[in-house]
Amino acid sequence: MSMSDHEVLMTAPVRLPRLIETLDEESAAFLTDVLTGLSADPKTIPPKYFYDERGSQLFEAITRTPEYYPTRTEIGILERHAGDIAALMPKGAAMVEFGAGAITKARILLGAAPIEIFVPVDISADFLGGEASRLQRERPGLTVLPVAADFTKPFTLPKAVAGRPLVGFFPGSTLGNFEPHEAAAFLKHAANMLGSGSTLIIGIDLVKDPEVLSRAYNDEAGVTAAFNLNLLRRIDRELGADFDTAGFWHRAFYNRERMRVEMHLASRVRQRVRVDGRCFDFRRGETIHTESSYKYTPEMFRALALGSGWTPAAMWLDEQQWFSVHALTAR
Ligand code: AVI
Repeated sequence: MSMSDHEVLMTAPVRLPRLIETLDEESAAFLTDVLTGLSADPKTIPPKYFYDERGSQLFEAITRTPEYYPTRTEIGILERHAGDIAALMPKGAAMVEFGAGAITKARILLGAAPIEIFVPVDISADFLGGEASRLQRERPGLTVLPVAADFTKPFTLPKAVAGRPLVGFFPGSTLGNFEPHEAAAFLKHAANMLGSGSTLIIGIDLVKDPEVLSRAYNDEAGVTAAFNLNLLRRIDRELGADFDTAGFWHRAFYNRERMRVEMHLASRVRQRVRVDGRCFDFRRGETIHTESSYKYTPEMFRALALGSGWTPAAMWLDEQQWFSVHALTAR
């Protein structure tokens, strides 16, 4: 909803019955995060909520836009260096992929490495089950053991991997969507889960020409804008809010000081939005910060890894030095 600038904003929120008691655990956490984020200054919503079914489809579409270089660049590195990467993996190893999605990139390594067990971990149980079955049919010699879990939190690995050398796989520069302290915490958690002597293969997007970065998050076809705005649709649908997506626009830019691309949803007008009976007022131009995508230099990433329980073992880059794939060993 929108209102003209001379209207007086009422401060007393309209109280409606609170949803929280009737929601399942996941939706209750979503509501809590949205209410907390919209109450903060500046307003913010965690990027993990982009990925409902439509959001996941839109993300796949982003990876196919000409401007979004990370996916195809990382795939190029993995294909070109699959043999070298595989050489670091002990025979009979089990590979654990954090946030497996469609298992596209792991297939490249599984084709080259002596991996006997593959454990794709993803929060979306249905999608994961389908993808894991498809991979199992394709590779009957491989044991595929999917785990439906939030990979950022401790989860139990299947018993079958006990005693095997473990290799973690975390592609896509997803680590870049974590705040630096969260990135360090994730790397420590991965080192604990996989254990000393294990290997982590991780994809990290690099600092580069701000123009290239800006274009990657402002594709001409507007797919990234649709991905960002879909978050408001999801909040309306799942939490009964009254965001009008036409009242917001997608804003993405490279923040040089923080070395991150920031995505925001900017309010076109002065307006008030209701979520679960609570009112949130927006000034014209005020934004909700929806995502940070940190970019690293190879040195900065290696320093982060070193401080988080891992020793850098190898790194592969594309010709333009836009993206990096690192092999790390847990201490
Ligand atoms: C998943 N993640 C690494 C993507 C990124 O580049 O930060 C998400 C994305 N946001 C906009 N475009 C892609």
